[in-house]
Amino acid sequence: MSHFEKVVQAKPDSIFGVQETYKRALATYKALPKDHPDAAPEKLPISLVIGAYRTAEGQPWVLPVVAEVEREMVGKENHEYLEMAGHVGFRNAAQKLMFGRNFPEVATIQTLSGTGALSIGFNFFARHTNIRHVLLSDPTWGNHFTVAQTAGLTTGTYPYYNSQHNSVKFEEMLQCLRTCDPNTLVVLHPSAHNPTGMDLTMEQWAQLAELFTARRTLVPFFDSAYQGYASGDLDADVAAVRLFTDHGLQVVVSQSFSKNMGLYGERVGALHVKCDSVDEKDRVLSQLAALARATYSNPPSYGARIASTILSDPARFEQWKGCLDTMTSRLKGMRHALLAALERRHVPGSWNHITVQQGMFSYTGLTAPQVAYMAEHHKIFLLPSGRMSIAGLTPANVERVAAAMEDAVTHAPVAH
Ligand SMILES: Cc1ncc(COP(=O)(O)O)c(C=O)c1O
Repeated sequence: MSHFEKVVQAKPDSIFGVQETYKRALATYKALPKDHPDAAPEKLPISLVIGAYRTAEGQPWVLPVVAEVEREMVGKENHEYLEMAGHVGFRNAAQKLMFGRNFPEVATIQTLSGTGALSIGFNFFARHTNIRHVLLSDPTWGNHFTVAQTAGLTTGTYPYYNSQHNSVKFEEMLQCLRTCDPNTLVVLHPSAHNPTGMDLTMEQWAQLAELFTARRTLVPFFDSAYQGYASGDLDADVAAVRLFTDHGLQVVVSQSFSKNMGLYGERVGALHVKCDSVDEKDRVLSQLAALARATYSNPPSYGARIASTILSDPARFEQWKGCLDTMTSRLKGMRHALLAALERRHVPGSWNHITVQQGMFSYTGLTAPQVAYMAEHHKIFLLPSGRMSIAGLTPANVERVAAAMEDAVTHAPVAH
């Protein structure tokens, strides 16, 4: 008899599942004899799946500013536990980066990156407030559903993306938020919306701020995973958070340094909860820390120390902005290169949205059968929703991707 007899296989994660398929295709490719026709360089499998920056050579990038700080840290730090709420210098600097200043009434806890911030945040609401429901954009990053439901909250969606016109359904979104049940958390992407890359304008954010001001029982929960990654400007990318804060709203923010500092595996992030008073902040922070204590006790220190140094040293901060510029410029360049290649080929359909969208991803408009066709016939992998990680494009592969898209649009079975 086994205690685990009844354990069923978990569903593969929709994103990492596709990446696994790519990895298998890559392993098969690498195992081929060099003279095999399928071993040609133009048959090398390409992953446009994972939201992680790659260089023009398709390699992961350690930001030079991060590498320098790491070198300076060697031998200078010990491995003591951090406080349950995390590294104090990091927390203060992260809060200032998000809000443009420090607020005595904002509870900030260091978290296991953005996912950890969402998890602590959702668990906090489920346990300590009368909120039990979360509204997510349709579509959104798939893990939002899982993290919210695992915390015991129910989930629903608000209209966001019109895939016919590649635009935001703003009026429908407003209507939904005007009429949804009270005591609801509303997750908003301040910039570089994942997966669509379509962001709201400042005028639209202003209308939303009015709506939340009129409906105080709704809580705006900003998921900021790409600060500095959409426009290249750290302030502009969180302007919505600051606008809502200026309206006196009780915003909640999950903040990730995975993408903008390239610290993915170090798990660096923060959760900020704007309270009405310092006394309220103290109580909220104590409960956030208690949740951390019950799950992982104290957050990891290595990445937080790196981020703290970069955020607090003006010279390092400038250097970091240069790195953000390198990353965002390359991504924008690849958007333009892909659009140009599609237009040169006269691929049926309109593709302008690829350069209108911003951040790590493009919602290409490719259908699930077209995506499957590209995987089967061209060994090019993206998500079934048509989401493409722009970071996976390089000057060397963009023509191949455009040619595969042309083939898929022309020859893949029609979606039902
Ligand atoms: C919208 C969004 N939120 C949160 C995350 C979480 O990332 P991390 O946990 O690495 O900060 C991601 C990562 O892709 C994301 O796209």
